[in-house]
Amino acid sequence: MCGIIAYNGRDDAMPYLVDGIRNLEYRGYDSCGCAFQSTNGIQVRKDVGRVDDVIRKYQLDGEHSNTAMFHTRWATNGPVSVKNAHPISDCTGEIAVVHNGIVENWAELKESLSMHKFRSDTDTEVIAHIVEDRLNKGGTLREAAKYAYKNIKGASSFLVMKSGSDEIVAVKHGSPLVLGLSKNGHFISSDIPSFSAYTNKVIYLHDGDLVSITKSGYSIMNMAHVKAAHKISYIKTDYTENDRSGFKHFMIKEIMEQPRLIKQIVKSDISALEKSASVLNQSKTVYLVGAGTSFHVALIGAHNMRLNGINAIAIQPQDAKDYSKVFKKDDVFIIVSQSGETADIISMLPLIKENKKLGILNSAESTLARAVDIPIFINAGHEKGVAATKTFTLSSIYLVLLSMFASGNKEAALRDLRLLSLNIYNLFVPSVLSSVSKAASILKKKTDVFYLGKGLDYAIALEGALKMKEVSYLHAEAIDTATFRHGPLALISNGAFAVSIVSRETKQDAIRNLREVKARKGKIIGISYENSDVFDIFIKVPEAGNFSFIQQAIVTQLLSYKVSVLRGIDPDHPRNLAKSVTVK
Ligand code: G6P
Repeated sequence: MCGIIAYNGRDDAMPYLVDGIRNLEYRGYDSCGCAFQSTNGIQVRKDVGRVDDVIRKYQLDGEHSNTAMFHTRWATNGPVSVKNAHPISDCTGEIAVVHNGIVENWAELKESLSMHKFRSDTDTEVIAHIVEDRLNKGGTLREAAKYAYKNIKGASSFLVMKSGSDEIVAVKHGSPLVLGLSKNGHFISSDIPSFSAYTNKVIYLHDGDLVSITKSGYSIMNMAHVKAAHKISYIKTDYTENDRSGFKHFMIKEIMEQPRLIKQIVKSDISALEKSASVLNQSKTVYLVGAGTSFHVALIGAHNMRLNGINAIAIQPQDAKDYSKVFKKDDVFIIVSQSGETADIISMLPLIKENKKLGILNSAESTLARAVDIPIFINAGHEKGVAATKTFTLSSIYLVLLSMFASGNKEAALRDLRLLSLNIYNLFVPSVLSSVSKAASILKKKTDVFYLGKGLDYAIALEGALKMKEVSYLHAEAIDTATFRHGPLALISNGAFAVSIVSRETKQDAIRNLREVKARKGKIIGISYENSDVFDIFIKVPEAGNFSFIQQAIVTQLLSYKVSVLRGIDPDHPRNLAKSVTVK
């Protein structure tokens, strides 16, 4: 899974692309590379490491070319190495390919290309050799790219360049690609924030599009060589906010933004929520779908809906096929995705073609924003930290509001939201922050930590443990407090630590179960509205009715961030991860 950006036009491509590829780093940062036309034909520069390291190493901002493409890689097929970094070349080095997706039949194709010299372990390389083969037989770069597309299986979008040609050809299939149109030239990229500083005029490409950009223009054909008539859209979102506002990392900046963003919801227009609430009331079952952190948001939404008498189930997109036999025409789907580009979700859409779809989304320009019937935007602003923080809390708030509106509890929902917007300031006070620091300095030295919670608290435990794993590499496991005694208790011995989420609703049962942990010399960090004798460290969170859980979640975010920093990890770019997974 990767990020791609290219420019072809009258301006120098390199400043645009050096800037653009930095904005695509959220899609992966195992290696980075570029290909550009020069008077000596195609030049390729690539290496392992972060985008900025590769730019610096090859002084790419000092190169000049009108026709160039960049790639940042999240390794899928083939280890992280220079030879597997894109662009990937053919036998001659005259052809360069950048790719986002997976060529599922690459092994079979490689066998049929046995006359070619393969230099990488990537599936992408078969594309370069197929293009080479086809060009050797005559024909245009476009025809060769089309031929490659016809031969490969799986969701794959790719760009190809040929030495000495001023054309860049793109094929869109599965993975996102968008065309950016500017006065002096055109962009083609995996995502809009990579070029939105230079133009707001875009064309969303469709699967099966074959695009050519030259210095003087562009053309979009479908595979039957019919000119595509896609409409031009104008970007509304401002993606230019790139600074950390004095914070050391985006993650802490985004955690600290939450009180302001919550206040913003209080003042916002909630008519989209009211409209969506009526849709829920017409449904038999509500399925909430999300991946990773967004699945935890779905769990929170489904829990709250059930409490409000709505039949709701949270599922992960990769399980949709198993559930599809029980899907009914009048079931409603709520899709939760901050990026709106998660491949597992996009690929399940054909299963729910006939169903009404609502989206809890952060990106107005995303694939899912265009695919759902009613998009509800959380307006969290661009989230740059790889670990989701503010988008988790805002998406959860919107879902709880939706659920409460649908069940006739609008007034209570708005009252609790106002309470949250006021009480949340009591979370960022020295007494709370110093307890979080104390807990972090203990967890820093541990190898394992358990997150315990019941009901809604369990969803927060799941998200807290995920956050801890993502940014601190500490093995954090969430277990239902009541289930802990049915096996996992065997893991508790002197020195074991558990982070326990305890709310007013769960307190009585939770404390009883936690005593069983204490009795085995386990230590407990309690995130709760009031202290208990079972807590070794107590982190006090203010309550806010139906939104109390938001403050528990923010404490777990702060805890993960602090452990990450104490361990000397860059929380904005944890190893092996990418902000959105755009391959299946
Ligand atoms: C990836 C990211 C997670 C994220 C998940 C869903 O796995 O690493 O942090 O929660 O994708 O992303 P989405 O954009 O659909 O919310």
